[in-house]
Amino acid sequence: MEKVRIAVLVSGGGTNLQALIDSEKSGVLTSGEIKLVISDNRDAYAIKRAENNNIETIVLLRKDFASREDHEIALVGTLIDHHIDLVVLAGFMSILSPYFIDAFRDRIINVHPSLIPSFCGKGFYGLKVHEAALNYGVKVTGATVHFVNEIPDGGRIIIQKAVDVKEGDTPEILQRRVMEEAEWKILPQACQMVCGKILEEKTDVE
Ligand code: GAR
Repeated sequence: MEKVRIAVLVSGGGTNLQALIDSEKSGVLTSGEIKLVISDNRDAYAIKRAENNNIETIVLLRKDFASREDHEIALVGTLIDHHIDLVVLAGFMSILSPYFIDAFRDRIINVHPSLIPSFCGKGFYGLKVHEAALNYGVKVTGATVHFVNEIPDGGRIIIQKAVDVKEGDTPEILQRRVMEEAEWKILPQACQMVCGKILEEKTDVE
């Protein structure tokens, strides 16, 4: 069976990438296959995870390009060269420009560690999101997988999952719970849903 060609963009530890890799093995993600991992950070442990699973990795550092535009042109070019159908942002810490978004319209999804529209948008990434949730005092937080458009964290929501905040939580403890209970589950599920739709569209066209 034909599968959707997925590229995963990472900057850090890559636990969400790992969840996607595991979901291919366990049969949750059957309609897509991770063909490429791109990192904008040479030290990202996510690269090691990809290598351990024989997935091609490419490092494209912002500082190696004259401008942000040139960096994105290289990113888009690499994705096109690899015939990528779906781009998954899994802890990718750069905000994409309209140029990139237009090149992969409705073909980019992102996992964000809160229940959007809370604690999202510019400046809300990684641990900062959980710090903000704890400072506000919310009792429930969670994670969201959404399509990426020109508004940071503003694209159509695909799946959300709520997670309880507990007495004594630190940002690190809460981050881990949100990953375990929400992100690592809904990212593979959302990927499978979107890949299924892409395959349906392809058959309709043929
Ligand atoms: C994850 O919690 C992800 O939701 C978040 O960064 C972490 C990356 O962890 N992404 C954002 O905050 C994007 N706005 P990982 O590298 O272990 O997957």
